[in-house]
Amino acid sequence: MGYGHEISPIIGLESMRDAGIEAMLIVACGTSYHAGLVGKCIFEELLKIPVRVELASEFNYYPQTLAKTLSIVITQSGETADTIKATRRLQEKGCHVLAITNVVGSTISRIADLTLYTQAGPEISVASTKSFIAQLVALYWLAMSYSISDVNRLANMLMSIRQLPNIVQQVLDNQSSIKQYGEYLAGFNNVFFIGRDINYPVALEGALKLKEVSYIHAEGYAAGELKHGPFALLDKDTPVIAIVAKDNTYEAMLNNIREIKARGAPVIALVENGNTPASEIADFIISVPKAGLIFSPIANSVVLQLLAYYAAEKRGCTIDFPRNLAKSVTVE
Ligand code: M6R
Repeated sequence: MGYGHEISPIIGLESMRDAGIEAMLIVACGTSYHAGLVGKCIFEELLKIPVRVELASEFNYYPQTLAKTLSIVITQSGETADTIKATRRLQEKGCHVLAITNVVGSTISRIADLTLYTQAGPEISVASTKSFIAQLVALYWLAMSYSISDVNRLANMLMSIRQLPNIVQQVLDNQSSIKQYGEYLAGFNNVFFIGRDINYPVALEGALKLKEVSYIHAEGYAAGELKHGPFALLDKDTPVIAIVAKDNTYEAMLNNIREIKARGAPVIALVENGNTPASEIADFIISVPKAGLIFSPIANSVVLQLLAYYAAEKRGCTIDFPRNLAKSVTVE
């Protein structure tokens, strides 16, 4: 047919072992790269193998060690020039490439060895939103398919994944509160987003979304890194959005919020079910429904997308078509 083959939904670990796979490589750009960074956490948790994530625009310019590596490229459009170049480069080195893409018949779907379609439907706006969420869900499914976890854990994960539409609906039902904070952010020129572990790439994505649609300068940071430089920028005019997950990073994140508060910056914390200790430390709280440990990026991402949307709306921006940007980046 000329299209990539749709991947079988269940590929057991045995087939990875049979193929001698000992590591994974994910290559992508922009929002798809952030999905790849979340994917790294998911795969390392469920498969217990090392995962590298590379920006396609960088990957294409340095030597690679790819022995025994499963390669995945992620691209909504399937037409991003750097990702296509990376795919060809991987194939030239003898790698089989699995593509996660949204667009049936796109260039990537035709050249990849296997294609997993995210089936998010056409995404018209330049900013990736629903396709990012669909990429995350595809990565969860893929990791569960390869997982060496026991049957009970997988059954629990399956239940959690089935709850995700309900979780997203709860976030949407809370829009009036998110709108209020989006409009608050519209009054600032600089915003930081911080997260840890699986929510660190969510912070990167929140910052990208805000800058892309509202033109507010935003930076995503690993929460523990602010003290290594960015503290110098913190004051009352630099709000920090902190993603607080109720996982092994919880106490460390609370300490990070205290450090930020001590430097005078306002903190808006995303907290699961409005949990109390974080509520007492941060200035403002956005309550996020509990999605289960490794699924928290879904709920948090939708909150951050809405924050960006309402900040941009308040500033009168053309939200779906930001200046200077194209939906598909077909040049290197
Ligand atoms: O189509 P792709 O996923 O390959 O696009 C990659 C980036 O150009 C894209 O995600 C970009 O960062 C978005 N506009 C972000 O919202």
